[in-house]
Amino acid sequence: MKKTPHIEVDREGLIAETVLLPGDPLRAKFIAETYLDDVICFNRVRNMLGFTGKYKGKKVSVMGTGMGMPSIGIYSYELIHFYGVKNLIRVGSCGSYQEDVKVRDIVIAMGACTNSAYASQYGLNGTFAPIASWSLLKRAVEAAERKGIPVKVGNVLSSDVFYNDNPEAWKKWAGMGVLAVEMEAAALYMNAARAGANALCILTVSDSLVSQEETTAEERERSFTQMVEIALELA
Ligand code: ADE
Repeated sequence: MKKTPHIEVDREGLIAETVLLPGDPLRAKFIAETYLDDVICFNRVRNMLGFTGKYKGKKVSVMGTGMGMPSIGIYSYELIHFYGVKNLIRVGSCGSYQEDVKVRDIVIAMGACTNSAYASQYGLNGTFAPIASWSLLKRAVEAAERKGIPVKVGNVLSSDVFYNDNPEAWKKWAGMGVLAVEMEAAALYMNAARAGANALCILTVSDSLVSQEETTAEERERSFTQMVEIALELA
């Protein structure tokens, strides 16, 4: 096994079949230190920290992805194709597009619309619909129900832009029932689909384009904890 350009692992077994993927590598460190036993750090390239440990006796990894589709595209591709990762679960934040999707809520992305050209590499003569793995989605919803954590399941927009030149652009997506905006799910779902792997994106709402509300750091911490606890049940 050879190191990849972005992950310095050259031995079998250092990365688990199931990997949680927060955008922020320091979140990956926090998840590993808070929830996992017998933790090793497997990646430090570009400070994109990756860890493997045990959760309730099951081996699981957690690694940062950076922000945006090009970045998660690289890390998820290398995890799947070079390290045999089968289940990729993004745990991130999103901005709400709907009145009834409030800050601190948890959104699970059943589908991921996008304004990016990521799909053009596949040469399809139509529009690909990036969707979550049904089995991961079903198990995540069941885990949330068991824990009494309410979740909203539906479409999100994976956007290439955080600062949009047209501040009204989001309303068209909202009009199509899209729940929230983030910047990575579509690329993750496409990489997984192309490779026959399983992917899911679980998000906490950090801000609302409807109410202009934003969460404080402490509030984000709490919904983040619930989201991670759902994700870890999938290991
Ligand atoms: N992630 C969290 N909030 C977001 C927003 N408003 N736009 C894009 N990505 C986000």
